[in-house]
Amino acid sequence: MPPRPLNVGLIGGGAGAFIVHPHQRAIHFDGTRRVTAAALHPDPQVALREAEQWAFPIRGYGSYDEMIATEQKLPVGERIDYALIVTPNHVHFDPAMKCIAAGIPVFCEKPLTVTLDESKRLAAAVREHKIPFGVAHTYIGHWTSRLSRHIVRSGLLGEIRWVDAYYLQGWLADRVEDTGLVQAEWRVDPKRAGASGAGGDIGTHALMQLRYVTGLDVQRVSARLEKFVSGRAIDDHFTTYCELSNGGKALVRSTQIAIGHLNNLGIEINGTKGSLLWRGEEAEHLTIRLPGQPDRTYWRGAVAANDGFLGDLPDDLMAEPTIPPGHPEAFHDAFARLHRCFEQDVRAYQAGESFDCDGSKYANVDDGRIGIAFITAAVQSQKRDGAWVEV
Ligand SMILES: NC(=O)c1ccc[n+]([C@@H]2O[C@H](COP(=O)([O-])OP(=O)(O)OC[C@H]3O[C@@H](n4cnc5c(N)ncnc54)[C@H](O)[C@@H]3O)[C@@H](O)[C@H]2O)c1
Repeated sequence: MPPRPLNVGLIGGGAGAFIVHPHQRAIHFDGTRRVTAAALHPDPQVALREAEQWAFPIRGYGSYDEMIATEQKLPVGERIDYALIVTPNHVHFDPAMKCIAAGIPVFCEKPLTVTLDESKRLAAAVREHKIPFGVAHTYIGHWTSRLSRHIVRSGLLGEIRWVDAYYLQGWLADRVEDTGLVQAEWRVDPKRAGASGAGGDIGTHALMQLRYVTGLDVQRVSARLEKFVSGRAIDDHFTTYCELSNGGKALVRSTQIAIGHLNNLGIEINGTKGSLLWRGEEAEHLTIRLPGQPDRTYWRGAVAANDGFLGDLPDDLMAEPTIPPGHPEAFHDAFARLHRCFEQDVRAYQAGESFDCDGSKYANVDDGRIGIAFITAAVQSQKRDGAWVEV
C-alpha cells in the first residue's frame, strides 16, 4: 500500500496572488501531497469565499489562527501535515511561530522574516521543537544547482577566489506600485517587505545560490542600496561586495530596474583551476571552463554516473526523479523537488525517526536567518557609506 498523501494547508494565496500557484502545482506533482485546507486572505469573509471558489474542494478558514487551532484537533490523516506560508514578508513570522508551537511543520516563503530578531526567534523555536522547517529558495531545487554544488565541492575548480551571484529584473523600473498591482505595492513598503527592497526580495535568492553551490558563507559586506525610482522608501537596486569564509571575494547583487531582465538569476564561480557558469533562465545546463580546454556544457539528465571527467556522481543525485533531457525542467520542477524532499522529512518526523533538514535538499530555517542577517548587515553598511560590516 502506498503511503497516504500528505495534507498541506495554505496560509495566503487568495485570488490574484502569485506564488501560491507554482507551489500548488509542485505540491500536486507526485501525487503524494495535496492541498486540503487554506486561510487565503486577511479578511475572514473574503478568505472563506475564496476557499469556496477554489478549483477543488478544500476546508476554508477565516484566518490562519482558526486553521491552526482547528486542524490541530483533527485525526491524523485528516489534519494538515504541513503548512505552506505564501503571504507577504511581514506575515511569515507570526503564522510560522504558531504552527511550530502547534507541532505543524512549515514550508515558508523567503525572505524568512522582516527583522533579524524575528529570524533568530524563529530559528530558536525550530531547534527547540525539533520540527521540519523549509524556506522556499526555489532555484536550489534545479537539478543543475545540485550538480553545480557537487562539482564545486569535488574540488574540480580548485579554491574559490571570486563569485558573481546576481538576480536581475526590470519590472519595477517605473512606479508600478501606483497602478494597483498588489505584488508591487507591498514590495516597496518597508513595513511589509523589510528594510531592503531588491535585496530582500531577490538578493536573498542570489546569496542562497552562492552559499548552496559553494558551501561558503559571506562574512563581511560593503553595500550600496540605491533607489532609482523617485518616491521609493527602499532600494530597487542592491549591490554588495563580500568577503567569503575562505578568504575569497564575491559580488552579490540584485536589481529591479534593469529593463529587459525578467528573472535573470545567475552565478559565475571562479576558482584557482577553473570556473562554472549557470543561469536560472537556462537551467537545463551549466558550463565548466578549465584553462587550455574547450568549454564543457553539461545538460541535465545527459550526465553519466561516471563520465571520466566529473568523477563519481552521488547516487542520490543520479536517482532524482526527473524527465529525459530535452524535455525542459523549469520553475515548477524546482519547486516540486523542494517539496518532495521536505515531504520525506515530514514523514520521518511523524514516524518519530531522525530527519536531516540540513540544507542539502532545501533551504532550512538557518539559511533563512542567514539571509536576513546578510540583508541587515548590508543596510547597516549603506548607512555607513559602504563601510565593511560583519554578517
Ligand atoms: N520563491 C520564489 O521564487 C518567490 C517568488 C515570488 C514571491 N515569493 C515570496 O512569496 C511571498 C508572497 O509573494 P506573492 O508575490 O505571491 O504575493 P501576493 O501579494 O501575490 O500574495 C500574497 C497573498 O497573501 C494573502 N495574505 C496577506 N495577509 C494575509 C493574512 N494575514 N492571512 C492570510 N492571507 C494573507 C494575500 O491576500 C494574498 O493572497 C512573499 O514573501 C514573496 O517574497 C517567492
